[in-house]
Amino acid sequence: MQDVHASRRGLLQFLAASPLFARSAVAEGLRSTDPMAWAPRELEKLIDDPSRAIDVFDFEPVMKQNVPPAHFGYMATGVDDEVTLRANRESFRKFALRPRRLVDVSKVDMRADILGVSYESPIVIAPTGSNRAFHPDGEISVAKAARTGNHLQILSTVATTSIEDAIAARGAPIWFQLYTTQRLEIGERLVRRAEAAGAPVIALTLDVRSSAKWATFARLRRTDTRECGTCHGVNQYLARKPNFAGIDLTGVTGTVVTNLTWDSIKRLRDIVKGKFVLKGILDVEDAQRAADAGIDAIIVSNHGGRVEDGVSATIDVLPEIVEAVGGRMPILIDGGFRRGSDIAKALALGARAVCIGRPYLWGLGAFGQAGVERVLAIMRAELRVAMQQVGAPSLKDLTPAMVRRTSA
Ligand SMILES: Cc1cc2nc3c(=O)[nH]c(=O)nc-3n(C[C@H](O)[C@H](O)[C@H](O)COP(=O)(O)O)c2cc1C
Repeated sequence: MQDVHASRRGLLQFLAASPLFARSAVAEGLRSTDPMAWAPRELEKLIDDPSRAIDVFDFEPVMKQNVPPAHFGYMATGVDDEVTLRANRESFRKFALRPRRLVDVSKVDMRADILGVSYESPIVIAPTGSNRAFHPDGEISVAKAARTGNHLQILSTVATTSIEDAIAARGAPIWFQLYTTQRLEIGERLVRRAEAAGAPVIALTLDVRSSAKWATFARLRRTDTRECGTCHGVNQYLARKPNFAGIDLTGVTGTVVTNLTWDSIKRLRDIVKGKFVLKGILDVEDAQRAADAGIDAIIVSNHGGRVEDGVSATIDVLPEIVEAVGGRMPILIDGGFRRGSDIAKALALGARAVCIGRPYLWGLGAFGQAGVERVLAIMRAELRVAMQQVGAPSLKDLTPAMVRRTSA
């Protein structure tokens, strides 16, 4: 790490001394930004305690320092050119908040009703696999942090903690994210197990249909000098995941599912006793069809840009999906949410709740449970500020009129 910094510093000093660079830097506005960037984030000065974080971005470089390059790459990666990964962030700039003044915001109520349960905020922990790759306590730390801040947590099928242990650590029911595998009957076994453990909602992920190219992951893995097999063992990927314990995995190898159709949804809808949610919707017709099929909620998601490149940012498609669904079921969204103002925009455009993925993993990899707690606290605090500034004392006061589409 030090060597990398030293060589990067050396390169920058060399470039800065070059008259060619001086001319082009001024031409490109790098030297003299307007307004001047007086305090850019310095990767040489990482926070050493979660309390020192100013925003959620302070955690990612600490995580990078702490976890093996292959594991960091698994977290960070997008697909191909990572256009969608970036679009998820950049598209928030297309939507400007339109504040209403002279509204009493001395009290802000961020309580959200999500499928009949009240949470202190609409910030939801998105399902992410293999959390023990980032910290030895993995999903247990995440569940405890969710408990501290009273957040809804969605546990991944491929979590490194079982649904039973995660619910125990959360001290309340959590949702179970479902990958059926290629054999739907395995999915049915998982549903029965999760429901028996007390998961009131099954969220089926629809968008992992190929082994897309994770270039960032592949490149960072090459820099990892450890022998992966030492930790990962000889068992195949799914067999190592606690949620599959006792399930015959003959003929299946991973989470890629190519054979799901609306018929599978019908079959699963009949099996799921609790609420049934579809994750990975990006299209108005799919959203309408989900409502027609008796689905309880959808999550507008492109999997954080991890399954395909060249699809829309989720915030871009949210308004048309909200309109198409017409209030028939709640709509959740994820993808690139890092700021309270990002969350406020989605809620104003009609989302019921917002799921976050990578930011809590940054907190986990950086400082374990304390890091996750601080990431969530920062996001709650920023959302509160955004609501006060826009003039919305409660979530129902966030309306589409408070967001204006700009040309950016
Ligand atoms: C490391 C990692 C693992 C993930 N694993 C899963 C998973 O097992 N199941 C799933 O439905 N989504 C998974 N996701 C996608 C997230 O649920 C969510 O859609 C995405 O992270 C949201 O984007 P964001 O990371 O920009 O917040 C994963 C995301 C990451 C970053």
